[in-house]
Amino acid sequence: MDGARLIDRLALDSDAERRDVVEGLRGRPARIAPKYFYDEVGCALYGAICRLPEYYPTRTEAAIFERHRREIAEAAGRGRQFVDLGAGDCAKARQWLASLRPSRYVAVDIAIHEIASALGGLAPDFPDLPMAGVATDFSRVLDLDGALDDTPALFFYPGSSIGNFTPEEATAFLGRVRGYCARRPGSALLIGVDGRKEKAVLEAAYDDAAGVTAAFNRNMLRHLNVRFGFDFAPAAFGHVGRYDEALGRVEMHLESLREQVVHLDGEPRRFPAGERIHTESSYKYSPEGFEALLAAAGFGAVRRWESAQQPYFVFLAS
Ligand code: AVJ
Repeated sequence: MDGARLIDRLALDSDAERRDVVEGLRGRPARIAPKYFYDEVGCALYGAICRLPEYYPTRTEAAIFERHRREIAEAAGRGRQFVDLGAGDCAKARQWLASLRPSRYVAVDIAIHEIASALGGLAPDFPDLPMAGVATDFSRVLDLDGALDDTPALFFYPGSSIGNFTPEEATAFLGRVRGYCARRPGSALLIGVDGRKEKAVLEAAYDDAAGVTAAFNRNMLRHLNVRFGFDFAPAAFGHVGRYDEALGRVEMHLESLREQVVHLDGEPRRFPAGERIHTESSYKYSPEGFEALLAAAGFGAVRRWESAQQPYFVFLAS
């Protein structure tokens, strides 16, 4: 990784993790946390999703960033510690480095292999930029202690990944970010948030014609088999991607296509035909709704940019 420091904060407690997953799968309704999408295959499939014609969030956000890059960079301030939350392949952050000229780049992600190789790819192109990687599960708690110095930071949380949290969890998470900002005056959060829109547009985005999202969803079962030794038959589960208008969230499920038994740590778990495993919620916000979350998290000043194509918002909050 060419000199970038890598801090590994992933749960060393894999027994606790296994217990969590088994408990979720035994529950009714059964559930698996969306962080289990992102093994190497899952990361590649997510990359493919972002290029699908139906999956508008990535390109809508990219268009907002491209169009307002200079104005956003000026408002955010230059020379900050640039903290990339859910950095993945670091492709989005890469676009900002020239305009933001950060003092350092800190890539944070649960997928350690992704950030390690991405930082390796970034380093030759930005030889003077100090870089670090933090492998951590920030869906549990955002712990950046030791990874940041005391100078102002710009937190970057693009892609509408905030949508995986419930609004209550999102407020708590944003509150953590606000805490890091408050201890470093001049800091801010730059975040992309998907807007509420027609059901048909949302459902096409989460159940695409080519079946890439279905493959992404099923891959989670293959990942759990490899990781925890379960015996799921991924092909025996169907993909469901539905928008619940009342809750303002897209839900993804895996639906058992036939009566089947899966062994979780040797213990059988029966899935009758039609039973579903909840794998993801992706909350969609109105601009006012999200601004209320930012305010509840302690952010005082908020600027907003949006798209004329689709409801999608970029906020700069401090
Ligand atoms: C990575 C959480 C932003 O919710 O749109 C894409 C993940 N799931 N297609 C999203 C996802 C299905 C994505 N986020």
